[in-house]
Amino acid sequence: MGKYQGKTVVVTGGSDGIGKALVEMFLEEGACVATCGRSADKLYQLQVRYSNKCLLTMVIDVRREDDCRRFIDEAIENFGGIDILINNAGISMRALFREVELDTIRAVMDVNFWGSVYCTKYALERVIERKGVIVGVSSIAGFRGLPGRAGYSASKFALHGWLEALRTELLPTGTHVMWVCPGFTTSNIRNAALNKDGEAQGESPLEESKLMSAAEVARRIGSAIERRKRSVVMGFQGHETVWVNKLFPGLADKLVHKFFYKEGKLVK
Ligand SMILES: NC(=O)c1ccc[n+]([C@@H]2O[C@H](COP(=O)([O-])OP(=O)(O)OC[C@H]3O[C@@H](n4cnc5c(N)ncnc54)[C@H](OP(=O)(O)O)[C@@H]3O)[C@@H](O)[C@H]2O)c1
Repeated sequence: MGKYQGKTVVVTGGSDGIGKALVEMFLEEGACVATCGRSADKLYQLQVRYSNKCLLTMVIDVRREDDCRRFIDEAIENFGGIDILINNAGISMRALFREVELDTIRAVMDVNFWGSVYCTKYALERVIERKGVIVGVSSIAGFRGLPGRAGYSASKFALHGWLEALRTELLPTGTHVMWVCPGFTTSNIRNAALNKDGEAQGESPLEESKLMSAAEVARRIGSAIERRKRSVVMGFQGHETVWVNKLFPGLADKLVHKFFYKEGKLVK
């Protein structure tokens, strides 16, 4: 019997990357899992692959409040409650603020911040009923603003502030609120990242095969949920960035600039 037998886990953005790895991990551990995404094709493939498991998939766009409400209602109707809600659905961007269309920033905020707020709002009472866990999948960019990712960093900083307030409000209820910050992870995020015009850039500036695997990130998130950690930063580079930024913010500016730029051009 898996350790999540009898539990319900809701993961937003389970059609690819870290979300998909989370869905697979929780299904293997015996949970009932509800997930969503915009890609009907990818969700259908997931559904077929796990046809013998307790899986609900739904094609929705988390930027739409009503979609989030329908998705959460459907999960509750099918599984009777929610033990763990993981706000994972996210998009990134790669464009300098001087050049970017403001709609690109808005789109990133809408998915990463508002999508999490909507899903949590509609799931909240049912998570509280079970003294469950609410997770935000954030990023090192939520601790340290990154060049070319101003909107992405803003969305993750917003996530931290909102979740910290929520954690404090929920303290007497026994419901736990946490956020996890993966480092660079192999996934579709850089392909799907929006360029200055708000279109998917369709390539990755990093060698994806050398990054942490989505399955390993999912495993670490699972372990953090079990231990009810407040927040998790993953990888040496992540810890280094957070601590240098805290202790020597001026030096962090220079190091981060050096990492992302070559000969005055943003290369990552
Ligand atoms: N990969 C990294 O290096 C990294 C590092 C730090 C943090 N993170 C965070 O990890 C989370 C997952 O990212 P990932 O790397 O796994 O990226 P990914 O492979 O691109 O997966 C993103 C997931 O979010 C879903 N999604 C995106 N926009 C959506 C929308 N409007 N409505 C519903 N679902 C939507 C995607 O599904 P559809 O495309 O089907 O809509 C997909 O399932 C994000 O919050 C990201 O910020 C990633």
